[in-house]
Parts: sequence; C-alpha cells; structure tokens
Amino acid sequence: MKVLAVADVHSPRFHEDFVAGLKDHDSPDLLLMAGDMVNRGRAAEYSRIVESIGDILGNDFPIIACFGNDDYGERRAAIIENGGDRITFLDEKSKVVETDGLKVGIVGTQGSLDKPTSWQRKTIPSIKRIFAQRASRAESLLRRLKEKTDYRILLMHYAPCLETCEGESARSFAWLGSRKFYSVIKTEQPDLVIHGHVHNATTLEAKIGDTMVYNVAFPAVGSLTKLEIQDGSG
Ligand SMILES: [Fe+2]
Ligand SMILES: [Fe+2]
Repeated sequence: MKVLAVADVHSPRFHEDFVAGLKDHDSPDLLLMAGDMVNRGRAAEYSRIVESIGDILGNDFPIIACFGNDDYGERRAAIIENGGDRITFLDEKSKVVETDGLKVGIVGTQGSLDKPTSWQRKTIPSIKRIFAQRASRAESLLRRLKEKTDYRILLMHYAPCLETCEGESARSFAWLGSRKFYSVIKTEQPDLVIHGHVHNATTLEAKIGDTMVYNVAFPAVGSLTKLEIQDGSG
C-alpha cells in the first residue's frame, strides 16, 4: 500500500513548492496530513490544497488529517468546512480505512508539548491537563484498534521523540513534543508514527522499539514523504 504523508505546508507560504512536490509522486492509496497545512488559521487555504491534490493526484484515495497548532482552535470549524468531503480530520479520534487489501487503523491527534508555550498557558489555563489527557486518549484509541486492524498508524502534529528533532536545539524539545507520547508509542507499538511541526529537523526517521517514526514536515523534507506499507511489517 502506497502512502504519502506531509505536514507544515503553511499555505500560502509553501503552497507553490507543495504543488511542485505533488508532481514528483504518483497517486497513493492513502494521503496523510500531520497538521499546519495552512498558515495562522487561514482556513480557506485548505480548499486550495484539496484542489491542487485533486488536479495532480486525482481524488481516488482517502485523505486523513490531524490538526496542528497553526490550525487555530477557533478556526477549526471553518477548516473542516474547507476540507469538505475530501479531508477527514481526526481530532483525538480513530478511523479504519480498508485499502489495497489491508485494514489500516489511524489515530489522529495534535499531540502534546512537555512545556506549553506562554501563549497556551495564558489562553488555556488547563493546558497541562489537556496535554496529559491527549496522550492517554491516544493510548486507549490505539489499544482498541489492535484487534480489528492489520496495521496501526499514529498521526500527530507534535514530535514524540528527540531523534526526529535533531537539527533544532536539543534544549527546545519541550516545546516541540512530549515524552508522554514516547511512552505511549513504546507501550502500544503502532506500526507507524507520522508527525510534523519540526521544520528544521535534519534527521527525519527514528525507531521507538519496533515502531518507525517519520517527521514529514514539508520545510524539512522538501517534498511529500512516500512510504510503502506491507501487512504488519511496516
Ligand atoms: Fe509548522
Ligand atoms: Fe506546528
């Protein structure tokens, strides 16, 4: 099964380059978006993204997305509307997609930060609790998918490990991701983890136990990330 994954296009910022990137690839069986596809909550840019994907790769495959921090909370209803029938947003939810003979379970979440930003602390007083709950929610969603799927994917925006943040200052990990999600992955061992958010990463792949982790942030990768999935073997 062919999967394309991308995050952090921050449209319109990298939209032109994203279109060039789409032209490098054939139509996938599944396209995953790991958040921040538009800049600063610009919901209408999701329509442009859907249009560009349709023009170049067609519309015969599902697009599953999670939200990033630039998909501002107050703009999410408009973002979902602009994604229309084409994009399924998973916000602490899961979905099973059957394609190419495989039952693929996807859990989507924005993920967490070990240290909320000062803006998050000011505007969302319960943010620490929310971040802790997101990790345990992702864990239980992954657990529930185990019996009924051939392959499990955790689709998240923030980083779950230090390795795919290399290139950024090591001290900034607390603002890039969360160790809580590292533990979730270590315990649940999904087959694949896709994340974004880390624009300046120089290492794009890592392993947590048997789980492959990919940072698919467009500014770091320079294109979409292409992955080939086989039953249970990654
Ligand atoms: Fe971003
Ligand atoms: Fe981000």
